Amino acid sequence: MSPHKKKGLKKKGAAAPAATPPVLKDRVALVTGAGSGLGRGIAEGLARAGAKVALVDIDLAGAENACAGLVREHGGGRCLCIRCDVTDEAQVAKAFRQTVDEFGELNICVAAAGIAPAFPLVEFPVDKWRRALEINLTGYFLVGREAARLMTAQGKGGSLILLSSKSGLDPSKSNSAYNATKAGEIHLARGWALELGPAGIRVNCIAPGNVFKGSKIWNPQYIEMCAKKRGIKPEEVIPYYVGLTALGIEIQPEDVANVAVWLASDASRVITGQVIVCDAGQVFVR
Ligand SMILES: NC(=O)c1ccc[n+]([C@@H]2O[C@H](COP(=O)([O-])OP(=O)(O)OC[C@H]3O[C@@H](n4cnc5c(N)ncnc54)[C@H](O)[C@@H]3O)[C@@H](O)[C@H]2O)c1
Repeated sequence: MSPHKKKGLKKKGAAAPAATPPVLKDRVALVTGAGSGLGRGIAEGLARAGAKVALVDIDLAGAENACAGLVREHGGGRCLCIRCDVTDEAQVAKAFRQTVDEFGELNICVAAAGIAPAFPLVEFPVDKWRRALEINLTGYFLVGREAARLMTAQGKGGSLILLSSKSGLDPSKSNSAYNATKAGEIHLARGWALELGPAGIRVNCIAPGNVFKGSKIWNPQYIEMCAKKRGIKPEEVIPYYVGLTALGIEIQPEDVANVAVWLASDASRVITGQVIVCDAGQVFVR
């Protein structure tokens, strides 16, 4: 019998409890990367907690698909999908304008659009390195800057959440660009927390562990590369990573969404400049 069953704990891979009281009622959120994976999970979590949500992605079909799910769950009028490349300054500014035109203001912003090109250092193509910096750092900068401009002008404070990774604290092997950009995001958040604190804008990072469900980062080629790196078969990759965690639980998008809802809500009103590690106990460094 598994130790989880014996102790009456939740079974590995079980969904995280989803329902949250409407702590974000009347709040407006913009989420980038909301067409897939963790961005989508966070957009869904914020909507479930009562927020109106703009789902922003370069992949409009993905964002529309996520929006359709939200309309089915909550009815119309609470979500908006916007095609936007986060590396394009004008497109980012337009996405924020559209959100405010539709919902009146902006209280929460989550930057989640990211990529993870993984190669050993000696084989790393410079164009892949540059693209990762462009999306994971410049994209986060442009989105954070626009959110800060809007929230400062509104004068009501706000919550800015950067989706980093445990790899921003504890590097992954053969993942130079991801490690560097995810660490960079953490330090961006700390600096912005200092800068924006006087305006009541809180800035925090979430550093998730490996989240497989719904993620396009964890595509078959990436899994293959991880299997090679670890000397295991592709089908052993998920159990291998779950086995690295203290809890032995597969992290679900809802687990990360729950942290985002808390960081977006007034319950975390004194939390800023922090990294909340959401990894079932894999990384213990700060
Ligand atoms: N899945 C994980 O294990 C994991 C763990 C820790 C952190 N993260 C972070 O979560 C975020 C999302 O990862 P995911 O696994 O859900 O990936 P994903 O590929 O499933 O989702 C990323 C989304 O970002 C969008 N995107 C990519 N480039 C864009 C651009 N230029 N402009 C706008 N949108 C763009 C994609 O279209 C996609 O919908 C990333 O920042 C990643 O670093 C993921």
